[in-house]
Amino acid sequence: VIRVPVPLADRSYDVLVGHEILEMLPGLLPEAASRVAVITQAALHGIALDTGRAEHRVLIGEGEAEKSLATVERVCRTMVSAGFTRRDVVIGLGGGLVTDVAGFVAAVYHRGIPVVHVPTTLLAMVDAAIGGKTGVNLPEGKNLVGAYWQPSAVLCDTALLDTLPARERASGNGEMAKYHFLTGEDLLALPLDERIARCVAIKAEVVASDEREGGRRALLNYGHTLGHALEIAGRFDLRHGEAVAIGLVYAAEVAHQMERIDAGRVQEHRDVVRAYGLPVDLPPGVDHGELLALMARDKKAIDGITFVLDGPDGVQLVTGVERRVLEGALARMEATRMGT
Ligand SMILES: NC(=O)c1ccc[n+]([C@@H]2O[C@H](COP(=O)([O-])OP(=O)(O)OC[C@H]3O[C@@H](n4cnc5c(N)ncnc54)[C@H](O)[C@@H]3O)[C@@H](O)[C@H]2O)c1
Ligand SMILES: [Zn+2]
Repeated sequence: VIRVPVPLADRSYDVLVGHEILEMLPGLLPEAASRVAVITQAALHGIALDTGRAEHRVLIGEGEAEKSLATVERVCRTMVSAGFTRRDVVIGLGGGLVTDVAGFVAAVYHRGIPVVHVPTTLLAMVDAAIGGKTGVNLPEGKNLVGAYWQPSAVLCDTALLDTLPARERASGNGEMAKYHFLTGEDLLALPLDERIARCVAIKAEVVASDEREGGRRALLNYGHTLGHALEIAGRFDLRHGEAVAIGLVYAAEVAHQMERIDAGRVQEHRDVVRAYGLPVDLPPGVDHGELLALMARDKKAIDGITFVLDGPDGVQLVTGVERRVLEGALARMEATRMGT
């Protein structure tokens, strides 16, 4: 078992990564807790947890529409009926959708009770379950309501990934490719458990330095500005990590337009993204004007278009990136896809 600490003063916790390690769960739960609310989905109901406590399963549905305040209310009311108090504990057993809801429920139930995450997707193991951002969607947009609420432990059992569909794995790979560029390490050289643990450690280090995203935590959005725009534009049938993968290549093209990196480093982005089994090209038929408008609207845009860009000193947050540069990089992407 690999133990990765997330150092956050009195909110510090460990992320455990290993194969078939679910039996470690009882030791991660607060001693005083006599009940556990396992928030999960029907598809994952077969995963047995031995918590050593009275266990109540609360099922939530599939898809982003279920990540809602209505779901949070329903889960909290179920917990009241079952007699949950502030001494009890929530377990989020599922992908990022489940851990976001479970974390938010834990943050607001009786003004806050402990939560332990057991992520079951690659994306949740390396990203969503770590770092304490929790929340739900509104009809007006994703993740608009939420709270920072750190888990008291995270248990990543990589045996759970055996059943994960290929598209969902691709989604986690997109975040892994992102970490690859944040530190410049060859993560693909590591066996899976170590690679996941290394991604967790990279995220933990960034979160520990900037828990509430005053600045540096925004680096975790590398590849996400175009990625989000492609997802919102919708029609392209891309999983989050696939959109991020294309976004990483695009961010490299933007950095190249600004002469922050050379053509060889752009090519390296393409090679690494491909090595993770992910797409590097814009989907055919994208409307550049629409993507530019969506990027300008991205919630990370504080001061002109803000972009996370590679450069001589590594990946940094760059403000006021000009539209001309963004257009030029889209044109480069188009030309490369056409092989010219
Ligand atoms: N809080 C954060 O920091 C953070 C970071 C990144 C993403 N997120 C959120 O995470 C969510 C996406 O998470 P996701 O990509 O894990 O998707 P998801 O949670 O929707 O899971 C994808 C699908 O895989 C299924 N599944 C989960 N585990 C499985 C397994 N072991 N075997 C077979 N099927 C399995 C789920 O039932 C679901 O149908 C989004 O809502 C996003 O906003 C949050
Ligand atoms: Zn992401």
